[in-house]
Amino acid sequence: MGILYDEVRKMFKLDTAHTTYLIGVSEEGYVGHIYYGKRLQQFGGRYLMRMEEMPFTPSVNLRDKNSFMDFFPTEYPTSGVGDYRESCLNVRNSVGSIGSELFYESYSIEEGKPALPGLPASFGREGEVQTLRIVCKDPVLGLHVTLLYSVFEREDVIVRSVNIENAGEEKLRLEKVYSACLDMENRDFEMVNLCGSWARERHIQRAELRYGKQLVSSARGESSHQEHPFLALVTPNTTQETGEVYAMHFVYSGNFIVQAELTQFDYVRMVMGIHGEDFCWRLAPGESFQAPEVVMTYSESGFGKMTRSLHDFYREHLIRSPYKYKKRPVLINNWEATYFDFDTEKLLDIAREAKKNGIEMLVMDDGWFGKRNCDDNSLGDWTVNEEKLTTGLSDLVNQVRSLGMEFGIWFEPEMISRDSDLFRAHPDWAIQIRGREPGQSRAQYVLDISRKEVRDYAYECVAKILRSAPITYVKWDMNRQLSDIGSACLPSDAQGELFHRYVLGLYEMQERLVTDFPELLLENCSGGGARFDPGMLYYSPQIWCSDDTDAIERLRIQEGTALIYPLSTMGAHVSDCPNHIVGRQTPFETRGNVALAGTFGYELDITKISEEERAQIPGQVEQYHKYRELIQTGDYYRIASWTDKKPYDCWEVAAKDASQALVTFVQVLGQPNVHSKSIVLRGLDEAGKYRLIGTEEVYTGEELMKCGFLIRDVKGDFQSKLYRFVRE
Ligand code: GLA
Repeated sequence: MGILYDEVRKMFKLDTAHTTYLIGVSEEGYVGHIYYGKRLQQFGGRYLMRMEEMPFTPSVNLRDKNSFMDFFPTEYPTSGVGDYRESCLNVRNSVGSIGSELFYESYSIEEGKPALPGLPASFGREGEVQTLRIVCKDPVLGLHVTLLYSVFEREDVIVRSVNIENAGEEKLRLEKVYSACLDMENRDFEMVNLCGSWARERHIQRAELRYGKQLVSSARGESSHQEHPFLALVTPNTTQETGEVYAMHFVYSGNFIVQAELTQFDYVRMVMGIHGEDFCWRLAPGESFQAPEVVMTYSESGFGKMTRSLHDFYREHLIRSPYKYKKRPVLINNWEATYFDFDTEKLLDIAREAKKNGIEMLVMDDGWFGKRNCDDNSLGDWTVNEEKLTTGLSDLVNQVRSLGMEFGIWFEPEMISRDSDLFRAHPDWAIQIRGREPGQSRAQYVLDISRKEVRDYAYECVAKILRSAPITYVKWDMNRQLSDIGSACLPSDAQGELFHRYVLGLYEMQERLVTDFPELLLENCSGGGARFDPGMLYYSPQIWCSDDTDAIERLRIQEGTALIYPLSTMGAHVSDCPNHIVGRQTPFETRGNVALAGTFGYELDITKISEEERAQIPGQVEQYHKYRELIQTGDYYRIASWTDKKPYDCWEVAAKDASQALVTFVQVLGQPNVHSKSIVLRGLDEAGKYRLIGTEEVYTGEELMKCGFLIRDVKGDFQSKLYRFVRE
């Protein structure tokens, strides 16, 4: 179980329930990659390091060492010494040369999983996870590189990271530090990644892997709307149920790169880490640098298994919030209801009507502070706008609470408007390059939260408001990307640290927030879903998925998001029609059914929608209470996909004990002369009998999972229905 070391063969064997990862140490001390895939019962496969067949092996033939370096399947490639594939580590020495070479030194195995100082990190108890540390040294630089592998047996996940320590005497500069590398023979791999834009985040993209480097990355200072810190290499024709999947996912919220490189020998090198663009870290003697962690999983049974491994892993070993499995209040957010045009009375009108219909929390979005009646001012001036909140914030909160509802609030703590008192007082607090007018985005700049005094100020603004009234939810927004990367406080040789220091500053602020307010429900957000990543999940159990609340566009966004994230993390609301972003009209019922696959809430002016739509809200809220636990804890199965050329979308959540399942079916486009569709369910007990709730129909689990269930009653564009099966 867990991690084994074979002294004679100098091999490490990392076992999870269904996978094995093998590492070997060569005679010369190179740490090589041997195998990752289906679980092996015994040690084996050392020949895959190909030491014997290589005429270039340094111990045999030093003359051709470079050829060896360029071929050897390695665990952690360095640059400058003959491996011309993508390296993971670039170190510049004090005379300005780049080059490092690592040799095995020692190993240790421990129960549990170490925390990573200052970084979000997965966790697990003894018995759930074991950690292997392989220490390598570069004797010339005096560098100690520790490769960390934490093996989560039950979830089939291996988490990797790297620690670089300068144990020598010269000042070094790290110009690139990636967190993981996986060298494998090519198996005609295809790449699957998530990409998009504002309002259409995380669409699934699949393409053949071609010769050369194909990368997915962000240099925007956040994980981004456009790309996502995730990559899967899959064998051809991989489906939900079949095919092999190698996936990497980054627990980090800033610049990243994940890349697959098909090389001259038909090998693939997959790497992941902090983007090397504008990254340069000083490493003085005695200092060390900790890279963020990469979550790695292998599935031999298609995407579905990968998805469920990651869902279980994030729920059990990354999300810390007390709300992880708790009921989250059904909220109503006033953004799409009022935008900036609201006051106390308007909010109370919404709250009163919401309460009548079973909604449990009012969230006051952007526009409650400074003089903010539009988006071009006041970020940084976190004082209550008493022209709008005429009786003050705590009075409003108390009035909402006396209705029997909770109160939540929006902040954008990392930002500073050009038109703000804060900017007038501290223009140097904005990230900017000396002598250059920084670029505005939504009329705002980014606060330099790499500086302690700046993040202390920004954090105190949030904390002060939270201390002033019983507020139980915060939406932490971040509405622009970073540019003009320069800090007034960092010395010239440290400006390349700003991107990463910014992310560390953000993590420190959120850590303070969840420590000081342990009962707070925190939802992260970034202009919709630009910072939906595992790093943020460490602090908030839910993240706003997208500013696009159209139920049909959400099908794609939520399918891509749910490919790797638990449903309980996806912020999803019912909004008004025509949809504010795409202008589409969809049935209220479908908007509710789609939002139910996430955290569920409302984002509309409940006082203004039609009587007929309002009348559906109590039923939807009741539905949420009924299915919430199943959705938060169950196994997710993607049954059919509109994005995969089907006219409908369908997903299922089955209880882990197979006692019940909830199926959501959305007919995206009506089809002529099609009478019924059979939907094959998963995750049930073959021998069990399942009643379709609301009917007299009873099916065996075997029928439902082999013959399928017939959808006969959903017709027409954008119509949808939920089906609940309960074992008798
Ligand atoms: C971002 C968020 C929205 C809303 C606005 C407010 O776009 O994603 O939900 O909070 O900011 O400015």
